[in-house]
Amino acid sequence: MAEALILANSTDKAERYKTLIPQLASLVQGETDTVANLSNVAAALRQALNFFWVGFYLVKNNELVLGPFQGPIACTRIGYGKGVCGTSWKEKKVIRVPNVDEFPGHIACSSDSKSEIVLPAFKNGEVVLVLDVDSDVLDDFDKTDEVYLGEVIHIVEQFL
Ligand code: SME
Repeated sequence: MAEALILANSTDKAERYKTLIPQLASLVQGETDTVANLSNVAAALRQALNFFWVGFYLVKNNELVLGPFQGPIACTRIGYGKGVCGTSWKEKKVIRVPNVDEFPGHIACSSDSKSEIVLPAFKNGEVVLVLDVDSDVLDDFDKTDEVYLGEVIHIVEQFL
């Protein structure tokens, strides 16, 4: 079971991700409960990367329902194709939004959120959840985030 996370003593986010990701893999290893694992993944991401908001929306009865997260309270349900999360689900792809005000249909759970990245996770070829990360800084997510959060999704997909 988990001990304290070891956090990279670096301002370089790639270093922070690289230190975190192997620990994430062992954090979820041996636990089969999805909510327990998603909760620890969200908490570890928040702790290591200091995100404004990070969490999961799970596909349930043809809509996205809020799952484990860290950060301010959030919208509980998002329709297929709605907002950044629903669009990522519909298009089955990662979406990076440098400025949420310029994304048509963006759902503002917090007026402090300025930029966002959403990654879908798959089971048997279907999206079963999305990982949503919000920042209170414009244009805060780049290819580095996409690559390493993609590795996080890979870990998540192992226990879905
Ligand atoms: N902004 C998201 C909604 C979820 S919150 O950011 C936590 C969207 O447009 O789908």
